[in-house]
Amino acid sequence: MKVENNFEVGIVWGVNGTNVVIKMYDISSDFKYFYNGEEYEGVRTGGYLSITRGHIDIVCQIESEEIKDNFSKLLSKEENEKLLNKERYERFVYAKCIGYFERKTFFTGVKYAPVIYNTVKMMNKNLVELMLTPQKRDNDIPFIIGKDIKYGINMDLPWNKIFNTHIGIFGNTGSGKSNTLTMLYKTLLNHQNLNLKNSEFVFIDFNGEYTGNKVFCENKKNFKLNTRTEDDKFTIKEESFWNEEVLGILFHATEKTQKPFLKNMIERRKKIFKKEDSLKKNILFYIKNIFKKIFTTNNPKREMLELMESILEKVGIEAKLEKVEWHSGNSCFKYLLDSTNPDELKISQKYNSSRGYIYSPNAEAFIQIFNVETFNIEKDIDNFDELEIRVKLDLISGLLSNHIQYDNINPLITRIKSISKSLKKIMKISDEFPEENNRIKVISLRNCNQEIKKLFPILLAREFFEEHKRKVGEIVDKTFHLIIDEAHNILSYQSNREAEIWKDYRLELFEEIIKEGRKFGFFLTVSSQRPADISETIMSQFHNFFIHRLINEKDLRLIDNVISTLDSYSKQLIPTLPQGACILTGTAFDFPQIIQVEKIEDKDERPNSDDISLVELWSKKKGDEGVKKDG
Ligand SMILES: Nc1ncnc2c1ncn2[C@@H]1O[C@H](COP(=O)(O)OP(=O)(O)O)[C@@H](O)[C@H]1O
Ligand SMILES: [Mg+2]
Repeated sequence: MKVENNFEVGIVWGVNGTNVVIKMYDISSDFKYFYNGEEYEGVRTGGYLSITRGHIDIVCQIESEEIKDNFSKLLSKEENEKLLNKERYERFVYAKCIGYFERKTFFTGVKYAPVIYNTVKMMNKNLVELMLTPQKRDNDIPFIIGKDIKYGINMDLPWNKIFNTHIGIFGNTGSGKSNTLTMLYKTLLNHQNLNLKNSEFVFIDFNGEYTGNKVFCENKKNFKLNTRTEDDKFTIKEESFWNEEVLGILFHATEKTQKPFLKNMIERRKKIFKKEDSLKKNILFYIKNIFKKIFTTNNPKREMLELMESILEKVGIEAKLEKVEWHSGNSCFKYLLDSTNPDELKISQKYNSSRGYIYSPNAEAFIQIFNVETFNIEKDIDNFDELEIRVKLDLISGLLSNHIQYDNINPLITRIKSISKSLKKIMKISDEFPEENNRIKVISLRNCNQEIKKLFPILLAREFFEEHKRKVGEIVDKTFHLIIDEAHNILSYQSNREAEIWKDYRLELFEEIIKEGRKFGFFLTVSSQRPADISETIMSQFHNFFIHRLINEKDLRLIDNVISTLDSYSKQLIPTLPQGACILTGTAFDFPQIIQVEKIEDKDERPNSDDISLVELWSKKKGDEGVKKDG
């Protein structure tokens, strides 16, 4: 490879820290030059020049330039006009040092500073390539998703330093994030020279952009979750479901009262399950026990009755609870005996009931009337039913012992009932976790309601993280890559609709994943159009960034604050980047680089996110002229 460069174009005229002023020999501003049969890109902002200092070539990037007019007052008009352009105008280039070549190897940093009168040379393409793709130094496996925007050189990405970090892809809608994300993972997942069998990839897809059969790769598994119909279901382990945090997330439990309540319930359930009884037997036992207590307690509350009625209905037990009334005067339950019924007549006589009523607490009378001992559960009970039943039974139990306020827990029950309806359609809770041989999954939430879109990804993230932590031992020999497009859906601060507590927990979970994940080989790739809405703790944990066009002042300020590796030149370009162009910066890159990501040509491989073509949609075709009028 020819890397000599002898094309001198100027000299160093001034140095201030890493800033260099270069006086150019020539004021021409051609786009391309030819020198010794080689093509050079013209000198312009964003381009690179090298400054020779002994055996070192210092590389600088051009930030600005200007022409100075030497029109001289000392000379007459005629004399001035006689001056050649070359004598009259001087071109100055202002550049920043970014690194240096020593023995044909590029290093970043400013170990060497230029000195006045050092010669300045153009860099040929080979030299620029050597500098932009230092990747070549540590391995030979290429990874190309686009070209350098200035020099058109294929950018060989340091994949070995990117995919073992958290990656942030930011940019306004339509700036090319989805295309970049797809290109990045398509290149990885189909790479001939890489063996990914110890890694898992899960894409969380809010808009159903990635479920096409050819997107990313052909051997992935799609889960198209739908809260209206029951399409695909995602399996969650039973033991994960019966977890205080998980239930807390799913049903937005409040920190102070509802979470401890759930925790107690789970512990109680665990104790019972140590014995080898069946679920139905367990539940039945518990129901009978509470049922009896309602009518024998000295501390009855009217809500107990309603709760019990709904429990019995859920499990399919019929009892004549509709005949029970609340006696507010005495704060007890009363039951109007039916004297035409021989059994009830007997009870009436036995207990000498006043005006045909029996009153609680009268254990024996109530137990006999309802035939509690003959209760039996015929219906199947799934985990969601069980949850609702247990919460209600625990609530009654808490009311009986005066430990719990009805009003604190009742909202939780309401939420369990309503959210379970959607959850049941998209998740399966199972004892056995399906041994998924498919390491690549796309989970589409396109057809899920808002509620589920907000909470299911959090549950998934937690589940994947915990599972992965369990699987990796001391030595991390597996990696997990969780990729979330449009992540502001769940990581944004600004949605006020849900309870504060829940919001915090959601962010906390991601903050934990992002802080702890790396040591377990669990990596996030997050894409978002509103980085300013994402928690700063999360933002500050990304190691590598792909920044597309962003125009919002707040987003730009945040990017400025959070990304320490971004230089002022690249920063100022962000609002004007064309579609598909992005700035790469972070730990994997020696200095910020701007690339034009390749647009995926095959429509089937592209994310389903193309701009809607109104020309196509609205243009009048033949036969579209409208309905002809009769006659
Ligand atoms: N690298 C690219 N080169 C050219 N056009 C692109 C590129 N990336 C995306 N586009 C086009 O821009 C539009 C939006 O791209 P998309 O990736 O969906 O953006 P975002 O996810 O940021 O909203 C699409 O119509 C797509 O075809
Ligand atoms: Mg997108």
